[in-house]
Parts: sequence; C-alpha cells; structure tokens
Amino acid sequence: MRKKIVAGNWKMNMSCHEATALFSQLLEFTEEIPENTQVIILPPSLYIKDFAKKVSSSKIISIGAQNCHSENEGAFTGEISAEMLKSVGAAYCIIGHSERRTLFGETDEIINKKILNAIAVSLNVIFCIGETEDIRNNNDHFEFIKSQLINGLKNIPFDRFSKIILAYEPVWAIGTGKTASPDQAQEMHHFIRKAIHDLYGHEISENVHILYGGSCNPDNAKQLFSCADVDGGLIGGASLKAQSFIAVIKATN
Ligand code: PGA
Repeated sequence: MRKKIVAGNWKMNMSCHEATALFSQLLEFTEEIPENTQVIILPPSLYIKDFAKKVSSSKIISIGAQNCHSENEGAFTGEISAEMLKSVGAAYCIIGHSERRTLFGETDEIINKKILNAIAVSLNVIFCIGETEDIRNNNDHFEFIKSQLINGLKNIPFDRFSKIILAYEPVWAIGTGKTASPDQAQEMHHFIRKAIHDLYGHEISENVHILYGGSCNPDNAKQLFSCADVDGGLIGGASLKAQSFIAVIKATN
C-alpha cells in the first residue's frame, strides 16, 4: 500500500526567524503525525541546512528545495545545483512548479534536464504538472497533462523512477482558493497513473505517489486524500501556519 505524503511548499515566504519558529512548532507535533504518512518541508533554500540537521534522524519528516539548476556547477550566477542541495541535507526538490514555468520561463525541456540531473545525484524529485483554466475549458487537459508527463520524464530510466513523486497542480487552483473537486482530482490522478502504466508498466504505476496541489486546506484535504489515486498533497498557503498545516497532515488519517 502506498503511504501518504504531505509536502509544505513555503515558496518565498518568511524571514529566517519566522521560518525557524514555524519549523519548531511543527517538530513539536511529530508524534501526532498519522502512521504511514510522510511529511516533507520545502522552505527557501537558505534554511535547508539548519532544518535538515534537526531532522537528520527522523524517518517521517524530510527537507527539500523548491528548485534547482540542471547543471552541477559552473558560471550560472545566482543558481543552486541539485548536488549542492543534497550536500546540505535536502532529500527532495520540487521541479516544474507552474510558477517556475510561467514566471521564469521553464520549458518541458529545461524541466526534463533538471529532473535527470537531480536523480543522478540521488535527490528525490517532486515533479509538478497541471493545466491552465483555458486548457481545461477547451477540454484539452488530458492531452496537455500527458504531454507534460512524456516530455518531463524523457529518458528517466525505469530503475530510477522510485526517485520521482508526481504532483498534479491545476494552475487555476494554485493560490486561488478554487480547489479541484474530489471527482476532478480523482479523474486526473487516475488518468496520470494510467499514463505512467503505459509508459513504465504496472509495478511502477502502482507504486508512484501522485500528490494533489492547489488550494488544499483543512476544509477539503480529507475528501481529496480519500480519493483512490490521491496519495497526499503539495500544500502552499495552508503550510505557512502550524495549525492549518497540522490539520492537513492529520487529514491523511
Ligand atoms: P496553494 O499552493 O496551496 O497555495 O494553492 C500550492 C502550490 O503552489 O504548490
């Protein structure tokens, strides 16, 4: 049986002081995390080293980054590589978030390079895909998601697929308060699992975790997480307050 995963994407929020305070609050609650649930905190990269040290022996809480470069080193001013993130204790990295795609011009090709590099240095990847409202209104969302999957996962070897977590984040739901209904989420997650089945076979498709992201909060998390193909959530806004994030984590139970 697949475990549940709840990941908190803090985006570009909180000073070091504020972030450390929130992280400490979350740690206090560790014992209440439901069995078979894994929590991943994705703070701004500056805070990773300190946080990762605090949970280095934890089996249930891990730390990750929100982005990485596709090369390991070189003249890329301002960038951080997957290898560097790994060296300070990051275990995961989000790649392909819609904000990176739209605000920073990341194409499927760039995203694919980043994923290949990240898994080569043994970083686990949370690979995000999702359609805009226009694409859904035109009824092109299944084709679109399939092409994001095929392009993003190009050349990923079968034996490295265990490093990949998928996150379905409809762009129209991110930070808008407009959540996908459980039926919409389940329909797409099932489609994604079927697409992975066609590309990678039965075993990989049954084992891959597919998270839902987009205005997931304490009021809707339980219903979303009860869907057969929804293996947890990638949480933005609701991960910025201990109380709401803890409530979302508890909804996996
Ligand atoms: P949201 O963000 O929960 O604030 O909609 C989710 C995300 O962007 O990962």
